[in-house]
Amino acid sequence: MKFHKTLAIVMSALLVAAASHAALSQSTASASPADTPKRTAAATPDSKSADSKSAGSQSDKPYMVVDGTKVDQKTLMGWRTWRALACERCHGAAQEGLVGPPLVESLKRLTKQEFHDTIMNGRPEKGMPPFSASKMVNDNWEGLYAYLKGRSDGQIKPGHLYPLDSDKKK
Ligand code: HEC
Repeated sequence: MKFHKTLAIVMSALLVAAASHAALSQSTASASPADTPKRTAAATPDSKSADSKSAGSQSDKPYMVVDGTKVDQKTLMGWRTWRALACERCHGAAQEGLVGPPLVESLKRLTKQEFHDTIMNGRPEKGMPPFSASKMVNDNWEGLYAYLKGRSDGQIKPGHLYPLDSDKKK
């Protein structure tokens, strides 16, 4: 009888140990997504910006575009700045991302101020150079923002852009 009681105690101790081990390995497993690269987290669509996007009217947009390729002067200068500074070397010709993140996603999340600070100061420790020394960037950063916003909204096509009053088809 005494033996059985001891056995029962040992058994329940084992069960407790097994259960806590299971709980421990579970919490270790659930902690691993935190290790996924920041870029994946940044690319996750953020419902807040989606809401504000659908609420926004055409007049809220920082750019004007017709046929996906004809844009206002400011946006056109933004695109020229993009080309002149070769941002595509790191972010891709269609802003789809290379060593730098896909800006079509980033612009859904970044505020205009955050965008400004990022391109002016860069994030040198992460491979994004500062562009505050570029006159073209200083003169046209708002156009650059407008251009990338239009790309991010899917309103402006990748590739060559033309002035709004241009007769060019493509
Ligand atoms: C030498 C490569 C390189 C060049 C050239 C470059 N970038 Fe970047 N850029 C990066 C990297 C890498 C990051 C990511 C930094 C980080 O992890 O925070 C980045 C980040 C950014 C971000 C922030 C994105 C986000 O999701 O937070 C913006 C905006 C940006 N770059 C715009 C530009 C523009 C505009 C130009 C051209 C004027 C440019 N970059 C040129 C490498 C580059």
